[in-house]
Amino acid sequence: MQILVTGGAGYIGSHMVVSLLEGGHQVAVLDNYANSSADILKQVEEITGKKCPAYEADVTDAGQLDALMAEIRPDSVFHFAGRKSVAESVERPDFYHQQNVVGTQNLLSAMAKCGCNQIIFSSSATVYGAPEKLPLTETHRVSPFNPYGVSKLAAENAITRWTDAAPERRAVLLRYFNPVGAHISGKIGENPKGRPNNLFPFIVQVAAGLRAELEIYGDDYETPDGTGVRDYIHITDLVEGHIAALAYAQNHKGSEIFNLGTGKGYSVCDVVHAFEAATGIKVPYQIKDRRAGDIATCYADAAKAESQLGWVAKLGLEQMCRDGWRWQENQSGDAQK
Ligand code: UD1
Repeated sequence: MQILVTGGAGYIGSHMVVSLLEGGHQVAVLDNYANSSADILKQVEEITGKKCPAYEADVTDAGQLDALMAEIRPDSVFHFAGRKSVAESVERPDFYHQQNVVGTQNLLSAMAKCGCNQIIFSSSATVYGAPEKLPLTETHRVSPFNPYGVSKLAAENAITRWTDAAPERRAVLLRYFNPVGAHISGKIGENPKGRPNNLFPFIVQVAAGLRAELEIYGDDYETPDGTGVRDYIHITDLVEGHIAALAYAQNHKGSEIFNLGTGKGYSVCDVVHAFEAATGIKVPYQIKDRRAGDIATCYADAAKAESQLGWVAKLGLEQMCRDGWRWQENQSGDAQK
């Protein structure tokens, strides 16, 4: 199949490109490299032994997108391009709307013009907002409480309107829980620019000596050890979920939503201890105040993906830590060269 991956040089996109190339698909990448680098695609080539064309483009440029789409003529699109920092979205809500919502609308319109009827979308469990009931099922009410979450939900809605408008259109909306870890080769992984917002890359950078200590945002939540509980999912499992979604989309018209999570919750302290056990490296930390906007506990009900996509997450916390650390070690090694 001819597949376009937007955001294909990013953390999740690059792992997706590897898996699609290994599956024998023809892949084209579109990325503006705002939070990624073209070098990652060289790593992708090293892993797979295959090259794929990459276009430097921004989804907010509708004219450029139309022209590229007419050239690539994809059978299916994986849409990862977008912004994902909650804090930045609070400071720049209009920018988030532009990038995540208008960018998605431009993409859908370009797809319609070139007759591409299928999209797999990178959404987030953040659209649920504060859970009313756990585990979170796909039918849980949506109520995002920051502009990032609002933009993801608006993009989901734009896609649903797009499939509603023509019977042959197909979309799978995937709501991710907390993707972590890296490719088993250690050649690609998460490489946030600047200070990481998320727990896992922060731990990895403390372990590498790049940061002095982890700040744990609150130990007074109503959880077994007082620290926040989340559903961490290995990037390899997440990508497998997308491959299952691709097969599903081929045979199902309209839009369908699936959670991609493991169904298990781990606390911040669980993750720190698992990382220390997997790598033998101590992660110093300090307890700080709660982070504004954080919730105590969030984990998926992953039953719908299991029954309808035939997909379950297989890899545990230990593997997430080992693979994430291998990637960081390679990064540090490269920096010393
Ligand atoms: C965050 C975003 C969410 C986004 C997701 C992407 C917020 C409020 N939510 O989710 O919208 O979809 O990333 O992966 O930013 N923690 C620490 N110290 C740190 C960092 C995090 O203690 O330095 C704690 C947090 O309080 C939380 C847990 O670790 O309990 C996970 O945090 P994080 O990795 O940022 O993910 P989420 O907050 O779940």
